[in-house]
Amino acid sequence: MSDTFPIDLLRTEPTPFYYYDTRLLADTLAAIKAATAGDADFHVHYAVKANAHPELLHYIAEAGLGADCVSGGEIRASLSAGFPADSIVYAGVGKSDWEIALGLDADIFCFNVESLPELEVINELAAARGRTARVAFRINPNVDAHTHANITTGLNENKFGLAMEDMIPAIRRAEALSHVRFVGLHFHIGSQIEDVRTFIPLCERINELQDRLDAEDIRAELINVGGGLGIDYVTPDRTPIPDFAAYFAVFREHLKRRPGQSVHFELGRSVVGQCGSLIARVLYVKEGHSKKFLILDAGFTDLIRPALYQAHHCIENLTADTTATERYDVVGPICESSDVFDRQVELPVSRRGDLVALRSAGAYGEVMASGYNCRELPRGYTDALLKGRP
Ligand code: LLP
Repeated sequence: MSDTFPIDLLRTEPTPFYYYDTRLLADTLAAIKAATAGDADFHVHYAVKANAHPELLHYIAEAGLGADCVSGGEIRASLSAGFPADSIVYAGVGKSDWEIALGLDADIFCFNVESLPELEVINELAAARGRTARVAFRINPNVDAHTHANITTGLNENKFGLAMEDMIPAIRRAEALSHVRFVGLHFHIGSQIEDVRTFIPLCERINELQDRLDAEDIRAELINVGGGLGIDYVTPDRTPIPDFAAYFAVFREHLKRRPGQSVHFELGRSVVGQCGSLIARVLYVKEGHSKKFLILDAGFTDLIRPALYQAHHCIENLTADTTATERYDVVGPICESSDVFDRQVELPVSRRGDLVALRSAGAYGEVMASGYNCRELPRGYTDALLKGRP
């Protein structure tokens, strides 16, 4: 039996659902605060795309983080969770007019602009409102994030950002426009980066670009280095909180900040990843010819990461009453052969009705769920929400 989970509470809920441990979230937020405490110019924006559960957003806003949004819907969710508009940064290669208008009307802190046509549209929509939009250009630094190809974003062939050689002309164009104000540069090299030294080449590339800005007499008020810090999917109980001190130290040591310049971070996975688990029930234990299948009532509609990225999530049987073990392929009920959470997992001998946790699922879990096969979307509960239920 697990001691990290309130089993009696979890047992009462229809599965599958996400369970969020807000104590771990609070400890994680405190660790971020401690690691940035000495530096008033460091600003951490939570990447809402990782998990937009309203209660989690509320906790994160209360802890003083800003928000990093990639859609109008995320801007709305952030505002209603209590993130101040002047802490919201907004990125994305395809911002619709209504989304830009929403950001302008709310007077968000900064638009991270990814193309020249987008800059023109922001300027037009801002002019129509008599506003001036603060813009940072997302620059593609061509730095290898050494992570899964589907979540690498900083290489030349990705759709994101402007190429480095287009940076100065883009800034000059922004300076020529009446309703945008250039404030800085934005970067993001990829996600689930486990070795913090991977961010050193990013800092070096930014330093080179800043030298180019100096030579042109251009001042950037801010540098936004994006997100990407990874979590320990293999032994989540050993590393429930990522090493934020080491992460921020890299930027403190390697990024040559100009006087008065602020540094912005957009952390998603590292903030919420470990506090969430997908809770499912064993429907059937099926004896195949050469192996056994544990068929769960959760599938890739609830957690798509294993099917989409071959991602590993630790699987635990929370209610088994034996120490004898067995190997299982743990699968879901969806009519697709990719609906497999993991193969040949050693688990206690399991039975129909056992509760199973798929760990480290707080980031890019619930938010990526779909209704394929006319399945219901999984709900998400914090420990407090579960306790408060009749
Ligand atoms: N900033 C930008 C511009 C981003 O594109 C992302 C993530 C972040 C910040 C936050 O990155 P984080 O700190 O969470 O690594 N669904 C995938 C991950 C996609 C990440 C997309 N961009 C997964 O499940 O692994």
